[in-house]
Amino acid sequence: TYIGIDLGTSSIKVILVDDEQRVLASAAREIVVHRPAPLWAEQDPDDWIEATLAVLAEIRDAQPEGFRACVSIGLSGQMHGAVLLDHRDRPLRPCILWNDGRSSAECIEIEAMVPTSRALTGNIAMPGFTAPKLAWVRKHEPDIFERLRRVVLPKAYLRLALTGEAIEDMSDASGTLWLDIARRDWSDEMLAACGLDRSQMPRLVEGCDAAGRLRPELSRQLGFAVPPLVAGGAGDNAAGAIGLGAIAPGDSFLSLGTSGVLWRTTARFEPRTQGAIHAFCHALPDLWHQMSVHLSAAASLSWWAGIVGETEAQLLAPLGETADRPSPVLFTPYLSGERTPHNDPYMRGGFARIGHEANRAAMTLAVLEGVAFAFRDGKIAMESGGGRIESTQVIGGGSRSRLWLTILANVLDMPMRRSSGGETGAAFGAARLARLAQTKEDPSSVCLPPAGAVEIFEPDAAMVGAYRERYELWQRAAHFDRELGR
Ligand code: XUL
Repeated sequence: TYIGIDLGTSSIKVILVDDEQRVLASAAREIVVHRPAPLWAEQDPDDWIEATLAVLAEIRDAQPEGFRACVSIGLSGQMHGAVLLDHRDRPLRPCILWNDGRSSAECIEIEAMVPTSRALTGNIAMPGFTAPKLAWVRKHEPDIFERLRRVVLPKAYLRLALTGEAIEDMSDASGTLWLDIARRDWSDEMLAACGLDRSQMPRLVEGCDAAGRLRPELSRQLGFAVPPLVAGGAGDNAAGAIGLGAIAPGDSFLSLGTSGVLWRTTARFEPRTQGAIHAFCHALPDLWHQMSVHLSAAASLSWWAGIVGETEAQLLAPLGETADRPSPVLFTPYLSGERTPHNDPYMRGGFARIGHEANRAAMTLAVLEGVAFAFRDGKIAMESGGGRIESTQVIGGGSRSRLWLTILANVLDMPMRRSSGGETGAAFGAARLARLAQTKEDPSSVCLPPAGAVEIFEPDAAMVGAYRERYELWQRAAHFDRELGR
């Protein structure tokens, strides 16, 4: 059997998968994000370890035999987070997360120091990336920077706890801004711009390569028969792609998680920094991808549910499964600023066009639509200069809502496909990478499209037209959000 662990932003999820890729057990535990100052988003790295060990124990208790027989573990992780470690590999401060916006001054400084930065890294330097976060710490917390032995991403910190080794995979390393994406190697020039060198970086492997083995005492303590291998794994978006089988150039999917992502697999490194698109390595050798990233997708709905004092499910239930007209209210989802297409950590979201008719249902619908409009921005940015995205698969917590998928089909004017036949998410992709690291099979024989039923959400011509008009108004609200942030 194989285990996939997804170290997400809102939860840690673990699944146990058998040799036929059937899910034997899955369990999750929520984790919290701390926001000690405006623009900041942090987590305590040790919370991840504690939660992961607890969820692993839960899986063991649910499926003792299957768990004992596990031969390989794959890791998926929230991308970009900066975990700063001292000479004992202990965290020097809380992890600065992917949706933290404090380091925009450092982004400008890094690009000025390395004029070829965008071509080399495939990306505009954005505050979400790891490099500017380190430049921020160097400037604002010099005592911590002095004591820095190494920097790792969230899932590499988890791997360090599990195996004792500092190793990172290419897809996640792409999000640091320290990787030469075409060459799949650390860039000494980008590291030097942050006062770092490769001795402070983890060793690089492909996602499907072996990358350490569970420490024997931890393996015994957890109850494995023999210490499982740990695979390179992937950033959570690449892990999602592996879970869906999106490994052929042109394959796309949409992830409706805490963040929103529209992904396209590419045969080569194809940077497209216009429109603030990311270009990264995929989790398999000789494969790359592009993606648009929207910082508050399902995060917008959780925020709104928190304000109203209900769960997301309670909030959505009265709205049904389709909307027959757009909400009279507009919502812009810039709770953490935005990456694609704005690259602006200072813009903030809002509700607009509120009248007496703006009840709870109208505002909830506006939140779903506002996130869909942000994806429309992303789709336009992805398609300008590249091929059209004709239809897409969906994953992520938000994709449980039929209403949201119907809205997305109408706003994006393309069919949305959701697998209802079983697991497809990042933890499942991580379990597939675990298998590849162990068996060395051809990835195309393992990374198949989802098995079983697929539900298709088709666009409806009348609603497509209604949302096209609405989108124009919404863009004006988004423009206003940018102006207010200046
Ligand atoms: C991608 C990104 C997010 C996180 C979410 O660039 O920042 O999608 O990976 O965990």
